[in-house]
Amino acid sequence: MHRIVLALAVMLSLSGPSLAQAPSKAPEPAQPAAQVQSHGMQVLSNLNQLMRGVLYPASNVVFSSQNDNPADAKAAPGQDPSLATDPLVSTFGGWQAVENAALALTDASNLLLIPGRKCANGVPVPMNNPDWLKFVQQLRDAGIKAYTAAQSKNQDNMIAASDTLTEACANCHRKWREKRPAERCK
Ligand code: HEC
Repeated sequence: MHRIVLALAVMLSLSGPSLAQAPSKAPEPAQPAAQVQSHGMQVLSNLNQLMRGVLYPASNVVFSSQNDNPADAKAAPGQDPSLATDPLVSTFGGWQAVENAALALTDASNLLLIPGRKCANGVPVPMNNPDWLKFVQQLRDAGIKAYTAAQSKNQDNMIAASDTLTEACANCHRKWREKRPAERCK
């Protein structure tokens, strides 16, 4: 994987902008690695892809624990937990899956602060805006609250933590996402 990314970076630098602008078959092409290296960290996904790949699935695990007791989550008959796509019924399932989803949300907030990421419309993530920092901190705090709630194995605590988490997502979305695609992140 590393080798492929590196090869892509070299190709882009050799052949200039014409190749960099070539249309891709993917609906939302990932950003060329060559343009986004920063502080030794690479940013490959745009913000939509990061949300869909990390924040959205992890938050659904947290939210589900309001209604469904994670202690009761079981793989279907004949389903192999080691191959489960639902973390709740996986090898690391139940309340442990909720804890890990909360931890993933907490630490994924750092990914929202790595320079070089763009939104799907090509606008750089507005991470220098003080509100962005505030909303990222709200997400981090909500993740910690959800982690503590999951450790308590108490569904009332999960309801309270889920409210906080929903607010954290919504506050940032209200400012930067809930507009026409071309206007997002501005
Ligand atoms: C600090 C700001 C911020 C926070 C916090 C945040 N988001 Fe987002 N989210 C955005 C922005 C901006 C977009 C639009 C990105 C784009 O257009 O590339 C987005 C897009 C998304 C999308 C893609 C929607 C689509 O139509 O494809 C999902 C899903 C999503 N967010 C889920 C969440 C969830 C769940 C949370 C909370 C756990 C969350 N986000 C927290 C800023 C944020």
